[in-house]
Amino acid sequence: MSRQISSLLAIAAVCVTLAPAPAFAAPKEEPVDCEQVKCIALTFDDGPSKYAGTLLDTLKKHDAKATFFLEGQYVKSRPQYVKRMVAEGHELGNHSYSHPDFTKSDAATIKSEIQKTQDAVKKAAGVEPRLLRPPYGLADLQVSDIAAEFGMPIILWTAGSKDWSTKDVDAIQKQTLAVAEPNGIILMHDWVKQTVDGMASLIKTLKNKGYHLVTVSDVIKSQELKPGDAFPTPEGWES
Ligand code: NI
Repeated sequence: MSRQISSLLAIAAVCVTLAPAPAFAAPKEEPVDCEQVKCIALTFDDGPSKYAGTLLDTLKKHDAKATFFLEGQYVKSRPQYVKRMVAEGHELGNHSYSHPDFTKSDAATIKSEIQKTQDAVKKAAGVEPRLLRPPYGLADLQVSDIAAEFGMPIILWTAGSKDWSTKDVDAIQKQTLAVAEPNGIILMHDWVKQTVDGMASLIKTLKNKGYHLVTVSDVIKSQELKPGDAFPTPEGWES
C-alpha cells in the first residue's frame, strides 16, 4: 500500500471516528395500538371552515388527532388550514369538490369531483388524501368502483354527533358521549361553531374515559380495507 493511500485511509478512519453521532430526532409519539387501547376517531366534514384555525388550536393544545374530510372548494379558499392539518399530524380525506350526491351523479362528475379535490389538497399541503367520504355518506357500486380506481377505501361513520341539527354545545357533547365506543368513527362538522366551541371540554371528557383521540387510519388498521371497500359496511352491501 502506498504511503499516500494509507494516509488517505487514516484520514478516512479519523473522519469516520469523528463523524458526529446522528442528531437525536425530536421525540416521536408512540404509535397508538388501537387493538390494545381505547381509541376513537373524531372526523370533521365539509371544511376547512372559517373555524378550522380555532379547532386546530384546541386539538393541538389537548394533543388530540382528528381526520378532516375536506371539500375541494374550501381547500382552495382556505389552503393555510390544510397545510396546518398536515403539519400537526391530522389525517385528510376527500369529501368531493362541491358536495353533490354521488349516487345521483354520472361517473365523469364523480371522478372530476374527487380529482379536483386531490389536486387542491396536493397544492395546499403537498399530500393527497387516501380516504374517501362521499357527500352525505351516500355510495353505491359506481362510487365504490371509482374509489377503487383512486386507490381509496370509502369511510363512513359508526355514529354521528348530530351537531349540524342541534347546534348546541351541550347537546353535541351529550350525543357524542352517548355514541362513543372503542374504535368508533364520529361524524362532526367544523362549520358548526358549537362543535368547535365545545371541543376542549369534549376532548377532556373523552380522555377521562380512557380514549385516545386518533386518526381514522389508526382505528381501521385491523380492518385491512381494500380500495373501494366501504367501512362501516353500508346496509344492503355485500361484505
Ligand atoms: Ni358533507
